[in-house]
Amino acid sequence: MKWLITGGCGFIGTNLIRRLLEDDAEDHSIRVYDNFSVGERDDLEKIASFEEVSPDAPGDISDAGVELVVGDVRDSDATQRAAAGADVIVHLAAQAGVPTSVEDPRYDFEANALGTFNLLEAARHQDVDRFVFASSAAPIGDCEPPIHEEIACHPKSPYGASKLAGEGYCSAYHGSFGLKTVALRFGNVYGPLSDHKSSVVAKFIRRAMQGKTLEIYGDGQQTRDFIHTDDLTRAIVLAATQPNVGGEVFQIATNSETTVNELARLLVPILRKEGGLEDVTVVHTDPRKGDIRRNYSDTSKAEEMLDWRAAVELDDGLRQTTRWFLRQETEAVAGQ
Ligand SMILES: NC(=O)c1ccc[n+]([C@@H]2O[C@H](COP(=O)([O-])OP(=O)(O)OC[C@H]3O[C@@H](n4cnc5c(N)ncnc54)[C@H](O)[C@@H]3O)[C@@H](O)[C@H]2O)c1
Repeated sequence: MKWLITGGCGFIGTNLIRRLLEDDAEDHSIRVYDNFSVGERDDLEKIASFEEVSPDAPGDISDAGVELVVGDVRDSDATQRAAAGADVIVHLAAQAGVPTSVEDPRYDFEANALGTFNLLEAARHQDVDRFVFASSAAPIGDCEPPIHEEIACHPKSPYGASKLAGEGYCSAYHGSFGLKTVALRFGNVYGPLSDHKSSVVAKFIRRAMQGKTLEIYGDGQQTRDFIHTDDLTRAIVLAATQPNVGGEVFQIATNSETTVNELARLLVPILRKEGGLEDVTVVHTDPRKGDIRRNYSDTSKAEEMLDWRAAVELDDGLRQTTRWFLRQETEAVAGQ
């Protein structure tokens, strides 16, 4: 199977590529398309050897191995060329932050709404069979959880609006052109290869390793649905391969809510035991403006149609993620 993975140098992209190579390297040819605005060559090098091909004439995706094409999803001609020969496009590249989208909504629109449109057009013209789109809970806006696919969307941020536009175009390209699109609304993703992320798990582990206090905004009773990359990447592979799925949206999370206080209660002993970080402390700071109070997803549709449900227990996932961060530090020190 030939994969075009946009944003393949980022957190979720590198985890996905690692999974594909570990599962069945011989069955997959992968082309990564990334502009290095966040992920970089080094991030891809950590998980795979690859060949860099020219964005001006990349040709069809080769029959084996991993290729890298440096390019921007806002460039429609370059995305057309990059998609040549793909069986499936997994579209992960995006401006991925709510605050950035508020600071610069035009950039958010161009990267996310126009970028997704460009990739759908590339899929249409290059006869790609399947299109998996990375969406989020942000299109929905405020609502009483659990979130599910039938709730009407009222996005609160430009990021939510641009992801909703992406979902809308996915649905339209299925309806008008028969492209098998699948939009996956990811929960709060955590796991290895997240050293650059500002999500709460990555931030807590990083701060603890730097000897800094872990800051919880407000009373810490706000809830999130934390999903490990092993579960998430399994959902992406199923979305890309399961027969008879097209034009669908799925919530991809764990079906359970965890308060930030509970997260800290699980993580602190792990940091102490695994990393010897005996002094790690937690403080409560002012609540963050605009933070959603409760958030978790009902994933029964994914269970029914993709035969998928999350399996990684939060404490196991946190232990594995902490070990990965600690290993990075050990290797960095050894390499000096
Ligand atoms: N991480 C999460 O918790 C989470 C939750 C919900 C949705 N998502 C979505 O999943 C996707 C992947 O997220 P991630 O956490 O891996 O983010 P990330 O920032 O780590 O990776 C995104 C990658 O896309 C690339 N990129 C950004 N803009 C680009 C552009 N204009 N052209 C080409 N490449 C570009 C970046 O260089 C980076 O390598 C995003 O679409 C994000 O919105 C992530």
